[in-house]
Amino acid sequence: MKLVYEKSRPGRRASSLPRPEVPAAEVPEELRRASPPRLPEISEPELVRHFTALADRTFGVDTGFYPLGSCTMKHNPRVNERVVNLPGFRDLHPLQEEEASQGALELMWRLQEILAEIVGLPSVSLQPAAGSQGELTGLLLMRAYFADRGEGDQRREIVIPDTAHGTNPASVTMAGYKLVDVKTDPRGNVDVDDLRGKVGPQTAGLMLTNPSTLGLFDEGIEEITRIFHEAGALMYYDGANLNAICGISRPGDFGFDIVHFNLHKTFSQPHGGGGPGGGPIAVRERLEPYLPVPAVVREGEAFRLDYERPKTIGKVRGFCGPFGVFVRSYAYIRSYGPALREMSEVAVLNANYLLARLKDTYEAPFDRLCMHEFVLSGRKLKREHGVTTLDVAKRLMDYGFHPPTIYFPLIVAEALMIEPTETEAKETLDAFADAMLAIAREAAGQSELLKEAPHVRPVKRLDEVRAAKQPVVRYRFEQHEVPQGAGEARQLEAQKGA
Ligand SMILES: Cc1ncc(COP(=O)(O)O)c(C=O)c1O
Repeated sequence: MKLVYEKSRPGRRASSLPRPEVPAAEVPEELRRASPPRLPEISEPELVRHFTALADRTFGVDTGFYPLGSCTMKHNPRVNERVVNLPGFRDLHPLQEEEASQGALELMWRLQEILAEIVGLPSVSLQPAAGSQGELTGLLLMRAYFADRGEGDQRREIVIPDTAHGTNPASVTMAGYKLVDVKTDPRGNVDVDDLRGKVGPQTAGLMLTNPSTLGLFDEGIEEITRIFHEAGALMYYDGANLNAICGISRPGDFGFDIVHFNLHKTFSQPHGGGGPGGGPIAVRERLEPYLPVPAVVREGEAFRLDYERPKTIGKVRGFCGPFGVFVRSYAYIRSYGPALREMSEVAVLNANYLLARLKDTYEAPFDRLCMHEFVLSGRKLKREHGVTTLDVAKRLMDYGFHPPTIYFPLIVAEALMIEPTETEAKETLDAFADAMLAIAREAAGQSELLKEAPHVRPVKRLDEVRAAKQPVVRYRFEQHEVPQGAGEARQLEAQKGA
């Protein structure tokens, strides 16, 4: 497919605007461009076709099943978009005075209250913009808390299991802590014996997601909490997997002191490909004084922003945080109402259904019921037929499915991490399971089909390392000639605007 620059022809326009009647702004001579920018010149029908063709080639949760483990790619209800586009929300300026933004403040306050209830911790800050920023914020709270107690120099270590998501160790390092790795035991839980030897007066805290990235709820969570709290350390809950437990169990009840939410996952939000995220945190009373400012507080019937927190770690995000994400998450949660538990129950049911259909063909490294996602290993296919998990993932694209997360968590060889979410119908789950089983049969008889997949997608097998390390994301004009007549047409256009 040609780039829009390659389709460009001098003088073509999508629309022609009348000359503005206001005088052009005075731009100082030294700041003026020497020549107009080389923008593509294209007619409206060609422009529409260009972007429609691009849209046809992409894959998203609106085009098909997207079981990308740990990313919770669920359906984004359209009612959320209706609500977020109400003029009172959409057109609100972040510097609008409090009296004129009571509805927005009330929504944020209510969201804080709901999130506190969901995780069983009393105080919430909506500010962090993503799960990873919630992690960093939580760790900065730990630092502020221990510094206040005179233990800042002593408590320098954070313990993380070997199944942790990559952002966990990154956040620990960014917050200036030393990382201590703890192993996973043969049932997929944190290895408590390994843990005991690693927790002491030097420990600031634990960072754990539960259910883990293996999709397993840690059976030793009470013992783990006891070990950390007896050592005077804090417990941080990575809430990326909260979709498994809403309305069923609460991290605050099983001992965690700080929790982050991934609003964009658990409570829906178009977030694939870097869309806006939300990573609020909830904390126990003793950590509240250190939360970022401003807090949204209620006084009688009114709502206001409170900056009076002398011990705050400061701001972590501009204004109050990603407001559009708050509105969509609030709408999502309120649509469920008291039945929010069903969201998690169905997510867990869907995952277990798929696991049951697939575990005899692909190995399940831990023979347990899973939570909202599960991890399989493709090592049998590799051993017996020389077919890798990457080949399976690529072949799934030919069957019309987005591949699951692969080669993560790192402790499972040839890992496939599958998260169907609660918004998928049984027919979709069956079609996916049928495809996975068909691919396993192909691996046995026609392995070259897998090796060369995908066959029917616009982009075939890529050099993924090169694509990640040397992405070409801009058109290099210097490598292309200026087409005849292009300069004049653009010059003319620039003059018209002037
Ligand atoms: C287990 C886990 N923790 C943390 C994160 C980081 O969240 P975010 O992408 O919102 O920064 C993710 C993201 O995929 C995750 O899966």
